[in-house]
Amino acid sequence: MNERKKGIVLSGMRPTGRLHLGNFLGALTNWVDLQEKYRCYFEIADWHALMSNYENPEMIREHSMDMACIWLAAGIDPEKSVLFRQSDIPEHLELYFILSSITPLGWLERCPTYKEALSNIESNDIRNHAFLGYPVLQAADIALYRADSVPVGKDQLPHLEMTREIVRRFNHLYSTDIMVEPKEILTVVKKLKGVDGKKMSKSYGNTIFITENSENIKRKVKSMITDPARIKISDRGHPDVCSVYDYHKIFSKKCVKDIEKKCRNAQIGCVKCKDILTENLEKKISPIREKYIYYRENPQKVNKILKEGNRRASIAAEKNLREFRKAMKYA
Ligand code: TRP
Ligand code: SF4
Repeated sequence: MNERKKGIVLSGMRPTGRLHLGNFLGALTNWVDLQEKYRCYFEIADWHALMSNYENPEMIREHSMDMACIWLAAGIDPEKSVLFRQSDIPEHLELYFILSSITPLGWLERCPTYKEALSNIESNDIRNHAFLGYPVLQAADIALYRADSVPVGKDQLPHLEMTREIVRRFNHLYSTDIMVEPKEILTVVKKLKGVDGKKMSKSYGNTIFITENSENIKRKVKSMITDPARIKISDRGHPDVCSVYDYHKIFSKKCVKDIEKKCRNAQIGCVKCKDILTENLEKKISPIREKYIYYRENPQKVNKILKEGNRRASIAAEKNLREFRKAMKYA
């Protein structure tokens, strides 16, 4: 590990399903870049998955493995970063309990993500004890490695704010400064919409997966909604209302200006325009897909990487937890 690296980063994802291009643009590319500057811990947050998906623990196991393969394929480098599985490091739950004890119930009940989850009838039944403590476990994840920087999307900001509050409360209660108040590294990306123009989400079935095969890429791009006012090729198009154009902005940086002009001047047809997008998506996805397939076919390699990651995570976790308990005079 490069000692010149500045701060400590921790981030995680819940292994609840296949990752799509939105996740890739949102979190993963950011993580890959952060590896150069920070000492990074990337966590498979499988306890966080269990709280809501407790009916299918074996699926969580399967998705954990799949997610690790995708991370590796996307460029998370086990030489540079610590890649580990939360449930393999028992200190997470120990610190979770300590932090649970000092977290007022009201903070959790008022948490906007909790209220939203409760109001979402489609979500699994999450009216259980553990789920209320979701942000406390997340705070434990972060505090355990004394991470000072946490790359997250906007949706996670309430959890980060709560982490800071819990950390401050710990330090105040035990007159210490051992725990680190983390700041967010906000992931700013243009939100990638689903192929139907709605929010990209697995539950809508409008996603393109990071590891999508060529045929599916083609089929999904074909199904994309274009400018509805454009019926004949000779009609001038309006790229700003077209999902294909939204994708071009992200995946066809070199020719997006040209496409816009040609669309507005009716010099390119939607079929051709989609072909160009298919090609560019394929270029982006295929190297990741190939590496992904390699790791899926060599699970022993992935397990070895995870084992080594767990070992390194454990060293930090054990040491820090010991110090936290000492600070509490509860060693
Ligand atoms: N709650 C995060 C999410 O759903 C996942 C997560 C778990 C996490 N522990 C974390 C993110 C610690 C950042 C830091 O995206
Ligand atoms: Fe959309 Fe391209 Fe058709 Fe224009 S030419 S409406 S950008 S698909």
